[in-house]
Order: sequence, then C-alpha cells, then structure tokens
Amino acid sequence: MSIRLASRTNPLKQSDIRAVTALINQYNGINLGQGICDLPVPDQIKEATKAAIDADRSIYTPFSGIPELRNLIAEKARSFNKLPVNGSENVQVTVGSTGAFVATILALFEPGDEAILFEPFYGYHRHLLELFGVKCTYVRIPDGDGALPVDALEAVITNRTRAIIVCSPCNPSGKVFARSELESILDIMNRHNLVAITDEIYEYMIYDGREHISLGSLPGAWDRTVTISGFSKTFNMTGWRLGYAVANEDLIHKMGLISDLLVISAPSPLQYGMAGVLPMAESYYTAMQADYYIKRDRFMRALSTAGFDSAPPQGAYYVLAHFGPKLLERPEFQDANTANRWLIENIGVCGVPGHSFYENPEDGKHRIRFCFAKEMHILEEACQRLERMG
Ligand SMILES: Cc1ncc(COP(=O)(O)O)c(C=O)c1O
Repeated sequence: MSIRLASRTNPLKQSDIRAVTALINQYNGINLGQGICDLPVPDQIKEATKAAIDADRSIYTPFSGIPELRNLIAEKARSFNKLPVNGSENVQVTVGSTGAFVATILALFEPGDEAILFEPFYGYHRHLLELFGVKCTYVRIPDGDGALPVDALEAVITNRTRAIIVCSPCNPSGKVFARSELESILDIMNRHNLVAITDEIYEYMIYDGREHISLGSLPGAWDRTVTISGFSKTFNMTGWRLGYAVANEDLIHKMGLISDLLVISAPSPLQYGMAGVLPMAESYYTAMQADYYIKRDRFMRALSTAGFDSAPPQGAYYVLAHFGPKLLERPEFQDANTANRWLIENIGVCGVPGHSFYENPEDGKHRIRFCFAKEMHILEEACQRLERMG
C-alpha cells in the first residue's frame, strides 16, 4: 500500500550538491561543490562550548534565545551592521540562518503571495519560499558589470508581491550590493509597500576594499527589513546550526512564537558557547578576510589557466565560473552536468553545475560554481589539477 503524500512534497528532490558530493567521494576527489569550509572552529568557541556542556546547559532556552547572546547580537547589529536596534527584543536566535529564513517566511507570507529573487539565486531561498506556497519571480543580475537592473525589478512587481530577497554578498555570484543599489531597492520597497529579507551570512567576506552595507541600516528601511545572518560561515561551523534574525520588535516576537512551534529553541550549549566568546577580536575578522582574499586570487588564476572566464567575486567564497571559448569547444563542456562529471572523473575536482542557480536551468548550463573555502594545501592541489587542464 502506498501512502498518499502531501502535494507540497512533489517538487522536492535531492539537491545537485548532495548528488555531486556522493560522486566525488567515490573518486576520493576534492569537493569544491558544497558551501562548507573545512577550516577548524576557533579554539575559544570550542572551549566555551565545552564549558557550557560541562555546566549542564542542557535544557530548552527561551524560544528567542538566551538573553546574553541576544544582547551580544544586538550590539553587533548596531556596531557592525549599523542597524537601529534597541536591544535584545530585536533579535531572534534560530537553528541556523536557515531557521531564521523559515520563520520569516511563515511570519510574512500568505500562500499565493509573491517574492522577488535576484538571479542567479541561492536555491534554499527559492525552494523554501515555494514549499510554503510563495510564488517566486526573478530578476536577472546581468553578467559583465553585474549592476542591479532597477527597471527590471520594478517590472516584475504585481499586486501579490510582498518581499524582495537580497543576498549580499551573494551565493553564488559573489555580488556585493552597493549602497546606491540598496537605495534603489528601498525606493521601490517604499513605493510598492514591500518588505526586504536580507541574507547577510557572508557579511565578513568582502574583497577589494568594498564595504558590506546592510539594507536595514538605510534611513527608513528598518521597519520593512528582516536582516538574517549566523555563525556558520564566519566561524566554520555549518554543522552547529546557530543563526539569527534582526528586525522590528513586533515581527521578531511573532517569529519567536513560530520558532517555538518549529524547534522550541536553538541548541542550548551552543548558545552559551557563542555568548562566551562574542565579540570576537577585530583581528579574527581581518585575518579571515586576508586569508580568503589570497585563496580567491590563487583560485581565479587557476580557473583562468584552465579556460574559465569569470570576474573575481566581490564577496563570499564562491566563483560561478563561466566556460571560456577554449572549454566551449570541448564536447563535454556543452553542459555543466557533463563538464562537472568530466572534472570529477579526469582531475578529481568538482563544483556544482550552474543549472541550480537559475529559474530556467538552461541559463546555467555553461557555468559551474566552485567554493574556495578550503585549507590552503587542498585548494593548491585543486588549483594545480585545474591548471593541468589548460
Ligand atoms: C546564502 C546562504 N544563506 C544561508 C546559508 C545557510 O546558512 P546556515 O548554516 O546559517 O543555515 C548558506 C549556506 O550555504 C548560504 O549560502
């Protein structure tokens, strides 16, 4: 007897990223696909969390998170993101930033509402919105200068549009939205009564002297913006599952009630561990940024020798690499899936086929996204393998 499943499960399938990971593991190759960093968690976070475990910090916390951590996040949101937060009442601690995104969707959207995504997009944004019945519409960020097409953004707005999703720095493109672009988005939000949900999980990975600007810090934006971030990427702890949302008090309160029903609270010892080490010394962030900067440049050189032609990312730790003319002559590089498989089988390196980042998968067929958040000796080995292709 087969059980009838809810129709919302029909479109769900294993993401390409997981399938590619299974294949590269068979070949014992270098996985530049998954957006995970293989660097260790900083020692002080481990120590503080071990102390929290030893102190039996093992019961549910308040659904919004422990006050100590909420206060520290509020302070960071004020000083780093320049958000006009009052205090902990503006912060919801969640199970990963993904948990914050889910609570935001449930707090803001009715089924049938629409959200605008910039393309190429981060798949979880699209798929989570769709899981909860939100229709996604898309605005392509052009190759080349990658500037926000303001007219195209305004053109997709309908009377069901509720929100604009801004991922800056962006996974997968590495785009960092400039102040003037955020101002244009805010202007449109104001004129059409829209909300912004900003995913700023890569906020500390910015290159070439660019600045990370939180949309919610612009004058007049605070009450219509949910700012989402977390600790996964900054502290190499994607598996710990700790993130947060910052927004106005009423919205945060509802998101807290939703999070309570979904997961009750974020893991208790991890919250105490993070509260024990924040704020991290400024030098931690500068060293991390300098390290990624070196890795980005080393990796861009290898990609170029291998025949990819892509601009270096402005932020985050991915390159959505486009096949250059030399690669496009090769039969296996007519499609990102066959190209990625060729890379796995011939040089033991993989990325994620570009199809996953576009509404029309065909638009990504000549691109592979690589993640360069690897230990240097592993990245160096991957670079040399890519260079031997050229
Ligand atoms: C843009 C973006 N947002 C969110 C996440 C997931 O973050 P978390 O581990 O905090 O749920 C990722 C992970 O790859 C990401 O790339």
